Amino acid sequence: MVSITDDYRCAMTRVPPVTVVRAATAVRTALQSLTRRMVPPEVGLLELASGFMATHVVYAAAKLGIADVLADGSLSADEIAAEVGSDPDATHRLLRAGAMFGIFTERSDGHYGLSALGRRLRSGTPGSMLPVVLMLGDPQYQGPWGRLTHSIETGRPAVEVAPGKQLWDYLDEFPAFAATFNDAMTCLTDLDWPAVAAAYDFTPYSTIADIGGGHGQLLALMLGAAPKSKGVLQERESLVGAAEAHLREAAILDRCRIDSGSFFETAPSDADLYVMRRVIHDYDDDQAIAILSNVRRHMPRGSTLLLLDSVVPPGSAPHFAKAIDLDMLIFVGGRERTERQFGSLLDRAGFRLTRVVATVSTISLIEAVPGR
Ligand SMILES: C[S@@+](CC[C@H](N)C(=O)[O-])C[C@H]1O[C@@H](n2cnc3c(N)ncnc32)[C@H](O)[C@@H]1O
Repeated sequence: MVSITDDYRCAMTRVPPVTVVRAATAVRTALQSLTRRMVPPEVGLLELASGFMATHVVYAAAKLGIADVLADGSLSADEIAAEVGSDPDATHRLLRAGAMFGIFTERSDGHYGLSALGRRLRSGTPGSMLPVVLMLGDPQYQGPWGRLTHSIETGRPAVEVAPGKQLWDYLDEFPAFAATFNDAMTCLTDLDWPAVAAAYDFTPYSTIADIGGGHGQLLALMLGAAPKSKGVLQERESLVGAAEAHLREAAILDRCRIDSGSFFETAPSDADLYVMRRVIHDYDDDQAIAILSNVRRHMPRGSTLLLLDSVVPPGSAPHFAKAIDLDMLIFVGGRERTERQFGSLLDRAGFRLTRVVATVSTISLIEAVPGR
């Protein structure tokens, strides 16, 4: 296993400046817009509305483990079907569509191989996006998205959870999907870690608390970047076992403590950095203020709060946060926020926003200190 310190060093060498990435993104957006304008609008709309087909082609390839079968080179559809135990004709049709969407390459002899995108569907390899694809295409993820209209009409989530319960209680009833979800969170943490590591220095802090830290991947990475720091992971009771196993595998458990408990009610009182990644966007303003106020009550004097969340840019600038915002509405009744909205939220919870650090990823670092 690559050590987290190696991961950190690697992360520091890969990240281009934010301005360069923004310029490249602007060019890419312009090219996408041009591509759309190169066909009649009715065709452009048809392509847009059938985007779900790509989701399901990629998901089926991921679920069947086709990328692992192709790891050593190209194979025919029949050979692939025999390996994964699927219908040969249907597999050929999936591979042909997958090649059109860019995850497979198709040779003149009819053999299929992996494109650069397809290689990211392999399991257990650096940069694998398999856990995220398995979450996005899962029927339990796709079902609620199919009820987006209901959420827009009512302003309510599309996932029905019993009164007084949260999505997280509901997840506990579906352990297989909960595992898929938590693996995807770990994978997405890895994806934006190089951007976070390039933007923020974790070494000044002696104890870093990750509140709602999932399986602890971000805590492991932060402690890799700050080898003298200790860590505290706060999570719901049902995740403690998996988090302990994950931190042990990352060889970081001896520098960590795991506190089980709800962030509405308790928080560690011995840290000097309190991190929350993709937590505040899960909640409406009242709930977010309740969590932040509770954490603030437990924070010692001189400590710092660091939220890792997307920040919606002003105006019409493209940003993935504008799509994830609907994901939050559908699943948990949460929302993505602008910088001004974060400032107001933090102020109402007794914090003072000190700075917002943009990164080359879709995530920003929102830093605050207890204000009164
Ligand atoms: C969207 S996930 C983010 C996980 C992790 N921070 C990350 O970025 O990968 C939200 C996390 O908050 C945890 N959580 C939800 N409600 C909680 C509560 N009341 N107390 C503590 N943790 C909670 C969930 O178990 C989940 O791991």
